[in-house]
Amino acid sequence: MKIWTKKNSASTNKRIEAFTISKDLELDVFLAPYDILGSMAHTIMLEKCGLLETDELKSILTNCGSIYEEIIKKDLFVIEDGSEDVHSQVEWMLTQKLGDAGKKIHSGRSRNDQVLVDLKMYMRQQVREITELTHSLFQTLQQKSEKHKEDLLPGYTHLQIAMPSSFGLWFGAYAEALIDDVEVLKGAYKVVNKNPLGSGAGYGSSFPLDRNLTTQLLGFDTLNYNVVYSQITRGKTEGILLSAVANLAATIGKLAMDVCLYNSQNFGFIKLPEEMTTGSSIMPHKKNPDVAEVLRAKSNRLKALPNEVAFITSNLPSGYHRDLQITKEILMPAMDDIKECLSIADFMMANIEVSKDLLADKKYDLLFSVENVNQMVVEGTPFRDAYQKIGFEINEGNFTPNRSLNHTLAGSIGNLCNAEIATEMNELIASFHFKKVDNAFEKLLNWEV
Ligand code: ARG
Repeated sequence: MKIWTKKNSASTNKRIEAFTISKDLELDVFLAPYDILGSMAHTIMLEKCGLLETDELKSILTNCGSIYEEIIKKDLFVIEDGSEDVHSQVEWMLTQKLGDAGKKIHSGRSRNDQVLVDLKMYMRQQVREITELTHSLFQTLQQKSEKHKEDLLPGYTHLQIAMPSSFGLWFGAYAEALIDDVEVLKGAYKVVNKNPLGSGAGYGSSFPLDRNLTTQLLGFDTLNYNVVYSQITRGKTEGILLSAVANLAATIGKLAMDVCLYNSQNFGFIKLPEEMTTGSSIMPHKKNPDVAEVLRAKSNRLKALPNEVAFITSNLPSGYHRDLQITKEILMPAMDDIKECLSIADFMMANIEVSKDLLADKKYDLLFSVENVNQMVVEGTPFRDAYQKIGFEINEGNFTPNRSLNHTLAGSIGNLCNAEIATEMNELIASFHFKKVDNAFEKLLNWEV
């Protein structure tokens, strides 16, 4: 029996039921810890408003506490046959145990704001895990950059050799890219970190619910005030988070493409250790960089997801619609994918080997053309005249490269500014204040009635 089944109504056709539930039974399990925490905050607030007796609150909190423990410690939560989703399952479990007290918990609440608040807490945790994995990849790249700051690499424009670069710059570039990706993630975190609970079905409640209290209890920074807007955040928030994830995926995808290219024999700049490569069934010599290729493909797929959410939600008017449920099917697997990509990218980059003395090869002589021009400029020749002279030498075939590099410019081969970049990242990560959520949950789970 559904929580919404009435004594005198017909039950829903089984095929229709399975179709409308879709993947909820499997996916809602990931929302279960948040559904419990949300229920605890809601009941504490109901008691404060006089809608629940103190002893009822006490038994609800004790029961919620043990369900939460089971989920966290034993990874145990099942949505049983007959429950449509996590919200119905939790209410059913509490009603089985507590009778009337369990039935009272839904006062002033709807599954619409329940799923909203669960998802906000779920997404908040995902941003935290993604940020931590990104930080780890950042640190690996910075270490590699420092280690290989003296190892030169050809720089390209139009895929034509251009100017001297270095592995210090290459690794460091992707480290710094991750800062901007985390900046955008932080924007998503701000959007996610607002409490929609109390918006009910999307139009609030005639009970004098204290929304500031649940906001504080659940560790949110603020609330989505307008109850209609709270409901509109469904889908919008997922799209914003997936856009932030898409930026990160774009960085990983580009890095993976560089790895594929630089690892090719025709470039020969880097090598993956053998255990990171795969072979061919016919060509005995093959050591393929499949890891970078799969990273590239998975990252590119992630870039498409904000569009999928946009399509599902486009043309939906305000208010709840069951269409919104389907966005979970895009959001949740994407969170696992980006986390896996980050951790594999980290593993791959930590183990990459770089080739030494690449620029000693004569085929890279022309990379130094601007060095020769600049040397003449320093000695007093106007830039355009020096440019013409070196260009002429190149065309005549009598150019001799000036290989002594002396770059001091901030962010260049000779001055990577890795310490400044690390400070920026560390400050950015500290500004999320993740601990605030831990403290709120700790207090909630040990609430003294
Ligand atoms: N499983 C539903 C979802 O994700 C929960 C909300 C159901 N609300 C409703 N009015 N049917 O959207």
